Amino acid sequence: MNRDDFEILKTGIIYFDNGATTLKPKILSEAISDYYNYYSSNAHRGDYGISIKASTEYEKTRELVKELINAKSPKQIAFTSGTTDSINKIIFGYFKNILKEGDEVLLTKSEHASNVLPWFELSHEINIKIKYIELDQDHKVTIENVKKAVTPNTKVISLAHISNVVGDIRPIKEITKYAHQNHILVLCDGAQSVPHMKTDVEDLDVDFLTFSAHKMCGPTGVGVIYMKEEYLNDVRPIIFGGGMNAEFDNEGHVIYKNMPDLLEAGTPNIAGVIGFGYIIKYLEKIGFDNIHEYELSLKKYLIQRLKEIKEIEIYNEHSESGIVTINYQGIFPQDLSIYLDKYNICTRAGNHCAKILKDELKIKNTCRISLYFYNTKEEIDALIEALKNPHIKEDII
Ligand code: ALA
Repeated sequence: MNRDDFEILKTGIIYFDNGATTLKPKILSEAISDYYNYYSSNAHRGDYGISIKASTEYEKTRELVKELINAKSPKQIAFTSGTTDSINKIIFGYFKNILKEGDEVLLTKSEHASNVLPWFELSHEINIKIKYIELDQDHKVTIENVKKAVTPNTKVISLAHISNVVGDIRPIKEITKYAHQNHILVLCDGAQSVPHMKTDVEDLDVDFLTFSAHKMCGPTGVGVIYMKEEYLNDVRPIIFGGGMNAEFDNEGHVIYKNMPDLLEAGTPNIAGVIGFGYIIKYLEKIGFDNIHEYELSLKKYLIQRLKEIKEIEIYNEHSESGIVTINYQGIFPQDLSIYLDKYNICTRAGNHCAKILKDELKIKNTCRISLYFYNTKEEIDALIEALKNPHIKEDII
């Protein structure tokens, strides 16, 4: 779909590393260049034409994000530098102030580092306990296992909507329902889901949602925090400076602004946020349901073709997203990735920053193929052909 929009695809590259970041259509660099060439100025600070235009365009993106995820108000949307920044700001700006010693936070063993390490840090600071929801035989999170893991001390469940390694779509709606019945809050990391499927925060009923623009054709350095309205007055900033204060004096009295300015200290990534607005309109035109459906059909084809190769082990055949994680018997995953690069095929090898998952997969490293709407069956055929090379092991050495 829409391959002509991507200049980089004209180089013949086969890009299967969309879980790490996606390719960018030309409209992104055009929107960003427009800002830098014709109205480069700070946002929210200037009383002159180009600055007012920069502020207006920046705020338009906030409105578009609000609509994208069906939030009630743009005040619920703060821009950050990415998902990692978003999760840190929620954990240290909100949960740090409400959790107490002995409280429990539930994660899964397939979480990405950004949804593990900030919790570890907080546990060292305030003595909360980190526990894990067990995964099933397909490495999936089930509502039954969530219920088993909850105790009277559980206060937060923090998990990705889609795992970045095993690609399972977690039953977030059922999880939030059960969590809220038990007075537990849910932080949902949408980095791998928002780019690939329709997201409705009202329907999912998540308390917090985070995601990154760069994993959905947008610029690097732009992320989003969504929070329910009831937390808007309780979240505290963890970065202080210009743009987030209304007033301060020499005695140290400060009046902070409200959300979302409160979490956007300093000059933000104005060009990136504006570019992201163009990308949201672009993706909506393609349609998130179309993207999801297309990726599923590609994934089905990929699995079917990978099964033709007896040396390939597939770790997540039954997941419902476009992420497929494999190994080739007798080949170290990094070597496999380097070998595929000879054919202009980009994959990611390693532990994919989900370093606890090795206990579940019983293997430390894998090679990941992660799809997006511009991938094709022909590209999958090229991958299979490279993997079927009878001299693959010699060619790697
Ligand atoms: N989270 C990103 C990935 O899965 C970086 O590759």
